Amino acid sequence: MKLEDTNKAVQQYVASIAFDQRLYRQDIEGSIAHTKMLAKQGIIAESDAETIIKGLDSIRVEIEQGKFQFKIELEDIHMNIEARLFEKIGDVAGKLHTARSRNDQIALDMRLFVKEEASKTIDELKKLQRSLVELAEANKDVIMPGYTHLQQAQPVLLAHHLLAYFEMFQRDKERFYDCLNRTDVLPLGSGALGGVSYPVDREFVARELGFSKVSTNSLDAVSDRDFVIEFEASAALTMMHLSRLAEEIILWSSSEFGFIEIDEAFTTGSSIMPQKKNPDVAELARGKTGRVYGNLMAILTIMKALPLAYNRDMQEDKEGLFDTVDTLHSSLKIFAKMMKAIKVDVNRVREAIKRDYLLATDLADYLVKKGLPFREAHSVVAKLSEYAVNNHKSFHELSLSEYHNFSPLFDEDVYNITLESSVAARNIVGGTSSQQVEAALTRAREILRGACPGEPKL
Ligand code: ARG
Repeated sequence: MKLEDTNKAVQQYVASIAFDQRLYRQDIEGSIAHTKMLAKQGIIAESDAETIIKGLDSIRVEIEQGKFQFKIELEDIHMNIEARLFEKIGDVAGKLHTARSRNDQIALDMRLFVKEEASKTIDELKKLQRSLVELAEANKDVIMPGYTHLQQAQPVLLAHHLLAYFEMFQRDKERFYDCLNRTDVLPLGSGALGGVSYPVDREFVARELGFSKVSTNSLDAVSDRDFVIEFEASAALTMMHLSRLAEEIILWSSSEFGFIEIDEAFTTGSSIMPQKKNPDVAELARGKTGRVYGNLMAILTIMKALPLAYNRDMQEDKEGLFDTVDTLHSSLKIFAKMMKAIKVDVNRVREAIKRDYLLATDLADYLVKKGLPFREAHSVVAKLSEYAVNNHKSFHELSLSEYHNFSPLFDEDVYNITLESSVAARNIVGGTSSQQVEAALTRAREILRGACPGEPKL
């Protein structure tokens, strides 16, 4: 290979412009704030600052209008913008990079980016929670089988089941708030690694850019990507929750369950089997979760054992983050819409619990109330259940004398045990009774209005 070819190959290998052009807005915003500060501190002339800022503004317009030519030989977004600034305003452009390094510049761009994306995510999570609350409210009285091991266990309200996801997404929101809070630190002023030797005003730049704090160790500030990892970890958890919801939607919409119908807009037909309505959106969210996990593993591995301070390895933080951001946003948005449009087939849900064996716990509790120790009651009802199953009868179809074969403690009032009474009995904080679920819905609505004391503030 000729040296020239080698140079080209290296140039391509180290360039990030193909993907970090996505940070142009943050880069320009950061440069403008930096320039204003340089002028305010008398480090550059006011008139030079004006020229630089005007130039940067017009570059932003060029990029937004698709007129900007990104050049691979200029490596990254910082150099591409700076080179264009030289073309536009001449040598004054050379003053922009005073008291700054690309190391603190990229740390800044990334923090601005993650802050924005975290707050967008919180918004999207809220919208998804709202859809869940609406679906729960529209089906407030529906009793469904609750499962453990995917076996019918006890009756629960469908609304209670849906609100379990509300809780998961609430914790996700808290994690993104938390991530946002730790990302909210200005790294600019750290220079290449040891700080800068000019009388900069870091607090001013922080205020200009909406940061509430400035970093307190320059070495850490340029080599820290914890905030990227935290975002990706929070995203991985959120996707894990989405994948569980996706799985239930897939199961529930199958012909075997038939509990729900997904709006056609979110399904696709089969090219060969005309009866099919495939839950592709849910399946893809389940699948994309794997990609998001992969990105998290990648950034953790990239950062592992890196010596201080900046190392070029860190440039590899971007593509995974961007991919996670895009996957997360699109998944949350589409789920908020899909959940809103779900139709519950109340008859099919009822049908699934016609054989009322999931009242076994309540029968055992009944015997306990009549004085039997729980373990004995459990064993009596286990035998009773086996008998009922073998004779193809529901509990309520058994005669009192059949009940008496298992325990003399059974009485006429055993027939008062119904799906409804079972649900109503669980009237304990966090339980599935209508009263508790009503309270949970009220709390959920309060959280969505932002009036809940537990809600972290931005
Ligand atoms: N493109 C680089 C990155 O994304 C920017 C910082 C480069 N700094 C350097 N000294 N080469 O990490």
